[in-house]
This record gives sequence, structure tokens and C-alpha cells, in this order.
Amino acid sequence: MRTPLIAGNWKMYKTEAEAVDTVRQLATAVADVTAVEVMVAPPFTALSAVAREANGTRVRVGAQNLFWESEGAFTGEIAPGMLTALGCTYVIVGHSERRQYFGETDGTVNRRVQAALSAGLIPVLCVGETEAQRDAGQTFSVLDKQMKIGLQGVSLKKPGDLVVAYEPVWAIGTGKTATSAQAQEVHRHLRERLGGQLTPEIAEGIRILYGGSVKPGNATELMAMPDIDGALVGGASLDADTFSRIVRF
Ligand code: PGA
Repeated sequence: MRTPLIAGNWKMYKTEAEAVDTVRQLATAVADVTAVEVMVAPPFTALSAVAREANGTRVRVGAQNLFWESEGAFTGEIAPGMLTALGCTYVIVGHSERRQYFGETDGTVNRRVQAALSAGLIPVLCVGETEAQRDAGQTFSVLDKQMKIGLQGVSLKKPGDLVVAYEPVWAIGTGKTATSAQAQEVHRHLRERLGGQLTPEIAEGIRILYGGSVKPGNATELMAMPDIDGALVGGASLDADTFSRIVRF
């Protein structure tokens, strides 16, 4: 059985004080939820304070990115060990905004995935096609390439060590969600790919999240799909009450 994971990506929102306030409210709102795992990924500047506030609650903490070297002269970068030292459990890797605006490639995504795993962090590997790619019928070939290179050289001890997030780029922050059937078709395909790249047993246990305009109103239908094991939520995760309604899908 895969325990659903509802993850909030706070992107470049919230000061430290705002983030602490939100995670405090969220922890209270989900205190009785035992069947679903909850994670938030605040900006780096709020990570330490949010991790402290979340400690002992049902909320896990993740980072939005990491660098692959363990230390060195890499101005502006954050090492995996710095994240584990704060109590981070997860790290988002290869989000489409990083690919689009910050030159992230499948190759650098792969280095980050490997570095996260070596440090004992659970990477949330993001993949997804653009609208033009979908319209051109390239959805599966684009995803296959992202998965193939992104997971090159990776072998997992257990399925819980990796999370994959399918985030169609055309659905992020646009209010356009993939239909549950569209998402399920892709998730099924991704699980089959994972089976080929890793092992079928490991693939059965890996959680594949859907991301892209997830809201309280569409979470139930998406989460009812057999291969959708949670959500990566941007905009709707910024408010504790709204996000906790998604957690209670
Ligand atoms: P959104 O973002 O929920 O605001 O569409 C999702 C994401 O980018 O992870």
C-alpha cells in the first residue's frame, strides 16, 4: 500500500515569520490525519524556522532544490548535508520552473537526484510536458527522456526513497488541470517506465504525485485514480486552511 503524500511547494512566497505562522496553523489543522503524509517546501530562508516549528508534528519539511556537491566554493548554492542537518526529509528536484528559468537539464537533475539519495533525502523528481509538446503528441517521449536521464545510475533500497511528480507544464499555475483520466494515463505509463528502469516491485511502491492547479475542488477526483498517490500543490498550499482541505481529500 502506498501512503498518499500531499506536498506543498511554497515557491518564492512567504517570509520566515509568515512561513512559521502557516506551518503552525497547518500542523494544527492536520493533527488528526494519520492516513496521509503531509509535506511543505518553504523557501530556503524559512527552512530552518519551519523545520523547528514542524518538529514533533505531522508535517514533514522539504527543500525546493539542492546542489550536488557536499561543500565548496559554489556561491549561492545549498549542499545536501545542510538540508539534512535542518531536519529536511524531502527535496524537490527538477521542477519545471527550474528547468524553464534556471537552465536545469535532465543531466543536472540526475546529479541532484543522486546527491539527494546519497545524503538520505527523498528526491521528489518532477517531470512534465509543455502544451506544445502535448499538442504535438510528444507527451510520452518527453516524459520518457526526463525519466531515463533523470534516474540514470539510480538504484533504490526501497520504494519510499523516491517520489515522482507528474506536473504538466500547461497546468501549473494556470487553473487548467489535467483531467483525472489524462493524469491516470500518464501515471500508469510512468509506473511502467519505473518498473523497467528499477524493478517492478520497487515501481509498485513508488509514490507518483500529480501537480498542476490542484485545489480542494478537484483533489478528490484526482486522488481516486489508482496510480495517483498524492499531489504537489503550489498556489493552493499557501493558505493552511485550503491546503488542509486538500490533505483531507
Ligand atoms: P500550482 O503549482 O498548484 O500553483 O499549479 C504546482 C507546482 O508548481 O508544483
